[in-house]
Amino acid sequence: MDRVRKAVFPVAGLGTRFLPATKASPKEMLPIVDKPLIQYAVEEAIAAGCDQLIFITGRGKRAIADHFDVSYELEVELEKKGKKALLEQVRAIVPSHVSVIHLRQPYPLGLGHAVLMARPVVGDEPFAVLLADDLMLASQPVLSQMVEQHRRYQAGILGVEEIPLEHSTRYGVVEARPWDESIFQVSRIVEKPQPVDAPSNLGVVGRYILPARIFHFLEHTAQGAGGEIQLTDAIAKLLGERQVLAYRFQGQRYDCGDKLGYLQATIAFALQHPEVGAAFGEYLQAYCKTLEVSG
Ligand code: G1P
Repeated sequence: MDRVRKAVFPVAGLGTRFLPATKASPKEMLPIVDKPLIQYAVEEAIAAGCDQLIFITGRGKRAIADHFDVSYELEVELEKKGKKALLEQVRAIVPSHVSVIHLRQPYPLGLGHAVLMARPVVGDEPFAVLLADDLMLASQPVLSQMVEQHRRYQAGILGVEEIPLEHSTRYGVVEARPWDESIFQVSRIVEKPQPVDAPSNLGVVGRYILPARIFHFLEHTAQGAGGEIQLTDAIAKLLGERQVLAYRFQGQRYDCGDKLGYLQATIAFALQHPEVGAAFGEYLQAYCKTLEVSG
């Protein structure tokens, strides 16, 4: 039985929706309270048992490589000052059993193309893809839930959630037959359809477990929606050959590629934060009262 050991993080996107914040710094490094988005995705992958992290990067993404590297000067400084807890936090970003690989995507040809770049490293194993923009708040990390489904069914697994139909142009949308409350058998998938063309209200969030066979289809996928090589189009072809399941995960997903989603995530994560959560909750309650008064 094939374990999911490798996690691919496509991080070459430009992040134009957060300009000017993302002019000189990658969108994946935007913090939610005190951790960059990409670190949440990495922690989710490690919690799910992945021990090889494969970043598909592009120009202007050095900060991501630095974040997952040893920061010698910082560690020496924290040690000198006796800041043990912080030192541990910094060291724990990449546990010693985990390795990190960076690959460059030379042209911004789309998500499918980015995933295809990982082929030489992934080889013949099933692997996970995580889009850091989609931030998950869940008691069991979402990728762990998906790994369980993969172990059970030995099929491709797509993380999905119900979306408002008017948002279908933001998602890969599946046509799927329910097996039980949370597992659906996918028969069709369309990238960013108009609401009238959407096959259902199940949208793919940025979590995938895919067989290596997907690379074959990615290699033969022409440019699709937005002139990009779409992962969704390759999954559509994979459906002719392999079983692919949509999994309605447990938890809350925040679209941090969007300003409103990012702000909502910040509030949700701040309220749960061990250090500032309680004080922030009190502040928020008092603040809401002032809104009621002025409203
Ligand atoms: C990508 C995928 C889309 C998926 C979405 C989830 O789109 O192409 O199928 O539903 O991520 O966030 P993007 O948001 O990169 O445009």
